[in-house]
Amino acid sequence: MAYTYHIFAPYRVCPLGAHVDHQHGLVSGFAIDKGVDLWFNITEDGSVRLKSRSFPGDVSLRVDDKTRVKEGNWGDYVRGAKYALRKRFELKRGIEGEIAGSLPIGGLSSSAAVLIAYVMAYAKANDITLTKMEIIKIASEAEREYIGLNNGILDQACIALGEQGKLLFLDTATEQYRLIEPGEDLAEYEIAIIFSGLTRSLVNSDYNLRVGECKTAAWCMQAYKDQPIKPLDQTFLRDVPYEMYEATKDRMPARFARRAEHFYTEYRRVRKGVTAWESGNMELFGQLIKESCESSIHNYECGSPELIKIYDILKDLKGVYGGRFSGAGFKGAVIAFVDPKQKESVEKAITEQYLTTYPEYKKTFGIHWVHSTDGARFTEE
Ligand code: GLA
Repeated sequence: MAYTYHIFAPYRVCPLGAHVDHQHGLVSGFAIDKGVDLWFNITEDGSVRLKSRSFPGDVSLRVDDKTRVKEGNWGDYVRGAKYALRKRFELKRGIEGEIAGSLPIGGLSSSAAVLIAYVMAYAKANDITLTKMEIIKIASEAEREYIGLNNGILDQACIALGEQGKLLFLDTATEQYRLIEPGEDLAEYEIAIIFSGLTRSLVNSDYNLRVGECKTAAWCMQAYKDQPIKPLDQTFLRDVPYEMYEATKDRMPARFARRAEHFYTEYRRVRKGVTAWESGNMELFGQLIKESCESSIHNYECGSPELIKIYDILKDLKGVYGGRFSGAGFKGAVIAFVDPKQKESVEKAITEQYLTTYPEYKKTFGIHWVHSTDGARFTEE
């Protein structure tokens, strides 16, 4: 079938600023040249009919349907985007088309990418003009309120705002951001995406549990200091000064203190990382990425044995500036910033060493090389 419209919504990588967006922290990221393609036509009668090249079963619904019931399949994202947009706008026309993802799922925020693609498509069909920040907000609401993941806006922001070659630096509390050109002397790099071979859904991981632990840490600190507290859903580590953490950390249950430790140290790493990027210091940028991963392992306590294995292999590998779990770090993938001249040897070393430990992932393990790109957009075919 011939389609009139085509949206490309990229996946994202986040070198620094992991697991802090839901606490209103500082994050950084790139949109990458792999992602989701959505081809579609507009339907006048409000029907939505979609096929996926990655998942079985067709999805069909109506834009005026008020149901919030999840079905536990890929159609939930089609329904979630519609739900979030309908909260703000009346939808009359639907879409009919096909969606395809260009890499295996796990750690690159394919959920946010598909939600953004659907939001943009519904908006187009209904003559709704949205700013990039509105697209971010609507897609994020779909993921939190409909899909049920208590995440922040890191993924949506990278996907919507990304610009080729530039590092997105975003304060998720104020929503102020900068797209930063690399310093003149920044060493050449390519980004490797190393798939462990495991896939997962974040709703079923410890993701939401960790978010709750961060908020509880904030509550503990405020309570020890006899400060007013807010309902947990309005409580964020960002609102608790570092000094309060220093003064209370030894009294808190150790696991809550570790979550807070991750937050405060990641805040500093993002700031330093932005400076390293701007001043063209790839060595330092990479070193900070590794420190961020160490904190994810020891303070935030995410990462499966498979991901930790990949990280352990690459952390001292010649030609790797730095690397860390991608995204949530439950199963999924690891990213690495690599000297292009050493690509082959890096790929070979990681593959050999990983598959020696985990031969069962021979078929699903894989390394892909990606580059930064512009954010989600309509393209001319
Ligand atoms: C997932 C979430 C994001 C973010 C990252 C970890 O990708 O969707 O909001 O929390 O994990 O940094």
